[in-house]
Amino acid sequence: TVPSKVTLVEVGPRDGLQNEKTPIATAIKIDLCKQLIEAGVQRLEAAAFVSPKWVPQMADGVDVLAGLNAMHALKARKVSYSALVPNLKGMEAAIEAGVQEAVVFTAASEAFTQKNINCTIAESIERFKPVAELARTHGIHLRGSISCALGCPYQGDVPTQNAAEVALRLQDIGVQEFDVADTIGVGTAGRVSQVFEAVGQRVGIHAVAGHFHDTYGQALANILAALQLGVATFHSSIAGLGGCPYAKGATGNVATEDVVYMLHGMGIETGLNLNRLVQTGAWISGSVGKPYISRAGRAVWNK
Ligand code: HMG
Ligand code: MG
Repeated sequence: TVPSKVTLVEVGPRDGLQNEKTPIATAIKIDLCKQLIEAGVQRLEAAAFVSPKWVPQMADGVDVLAGLNAMHALKARKVSYSALVPNLKGMEAAIEAGVQEAVVFTAASEAFTQKNINCTIAESIERFKPVAELARTHGIHLRGSISCALGCPYQGDVPTQNAAEVALRLQDIGVQEFDVADTIGVGTAGRVSQVFEAVGQRVGIHAVAGHFHDTYGQALANILAALQLGVATFHSSIAGLGGCPYAKGATGNVATEDVVYMLHGMGIETGLNLNRLVQTGAWISGSVGKPYISRAGRAVWNK
């Protein structure tokens, strides 16, 4: 049965911006987060505490979070901020920055793990153990992102069970929520049902979140397939911005505006205000010099 309420984790400020070649001013990033929160976002991926040599655009994460935490008006909204942490160094920075959620990230494909975080899947899990320990002692909610669950840009097909096996290993070390990701947006609904069902059987479907990129225009259909399995948390990116620097050609996550339009149309609550999102989506697209590509966003904008 389809959930009556869905939580959207807004990943625009992180997944949406990380791939931009020109440095984006910290003030723009903070303004983006502020506008998203004003539109109702409750869980916001605001930063990545990764090596600045690997992803220069995310180098100012500390300042982004400091800016947000200094804003009095946002405090009352009790937003849960998250950041990617590839290792202990990243986790220490995340704690210092005061995040409520941390995200360790690996993949269902060995080839992608090597390109993205320079180690094997097994090594990544070893690396995450002390990170998980630190998250536990600081009361930080720990998510584990599993890239390439539906296909890999380097090795092609990925067996259905891979994501489920990685999820189980992450659960063993203390990961609490599993972000099953179609990094390059190649999945279609039938495969999504199989992969999410397999992950749900291992770690419980309530702990699974769907992270869909829209490269082939399949993301909404894939969300629907996951919804029908009971998945009630999805990631989306304002204006459909983004892409992963280690997944050439992949587009951004599904646009938040498009997901909200679909869910509200189905009578599913999100707590988000579509009109506010559209204003933000149009503004940030212009700010990074991109056309505004959210389909629902453009339709609302042109009304
Ligand atoms: P490495 O080169 O193997 O690691 O990189 P290292 O430990 O040798 O460190 C290299 C340098 O980075 C050192 O600096 C470290 O201090 C520094 P140097 O001594 O050369 O001056 N360093 C750090 N600096 C700041 N923060 C840190 C940190 N760690 C090391 N946390 C490493 C390994 C994991 C660090 C690197 O590969 C990395 O940072 N990778 C991140 C890649 C990334 O961010 N990818 C995009 C996000 S994933 C994604 O988009 C997918 C997702 O959206 C889901 C989906 O769609 O699939 C989540
Ligand atoms: Mg992604």
